Amino acid sequence: MRKIEAIIRPEKFECVKSALEEMGIIGMTVTDVRGRGRQRGTRIQFRGREMEIDLLHKVKIEIVVEEEAVDSVVNAVLENARTGEIGDGKIFIMQVEDVIRVRTGERGRTVL
Ligand SMILES: Nc1ncnc2c1ncn2[C@@H]1O[C@H](COP(=O)(O)OP(=O)(O)OP(=O)(O)O)[C@@H](O)[C@H]1O
Ligand SMILES: [Mg+2]
Repeated sequence: MRKIEAIIRPEKFECVKSALEEMGIIGMTVTDVRGRGRQRGTRIQFRGREMEIDLLHKVKIEIVVEEEAVDSVVNAVLENARTGEIGDGKIFIMQVEDVIRVRTGERGRTVL
C-alpha cells in the first residue's frame, strides 16, 4: 500500500475530489495547511504597501491505496489540480506498512 499526499491549491480541491470519487476513491483525509515551495511565499500590494506573505494557504489530501491504484490517483490530481502557474502543488508518495479498521480489528489491504 502507498500513501499519496497531494498538496494543492484550495480552489482545485472540489474538482480533484470529484475526479477521485468517480474512480471509486472515497476514503481520504483533508487538511487546510500553509506552506511554501521553492519560490517561498508571495508579495502583495496592501494599502499601497508591498507586503510579503511567507506561507500560502493550500489543501493537503491524504489517500492510502493499493500500489496498483497509485498511477491513476496521481494522474487524477495532475489533470484536475494543474493551472500551469507556479504554486500548483506537489505530490508525495510513501510506503504504508499496515492499516487497521478500529471497529473490527481487521488488518491489511482489504480494509481500504
Ligand atoms: N520540499 C517540500 N516539502 C514539503 N512540502 C513542500 C515541499 N515543497 C513544496 N511543499 C508544499 O507544497 C506546496 C506547493 O508547493 P509549490 O507548488 O510552490 O512547489 P514548487 O516546488 O515551488 O513548484 P512550482 O515551481 O510549480 O511553484 C507548498 O506550499 C508546501 O506546502
Ligand atoms: Mg512554488
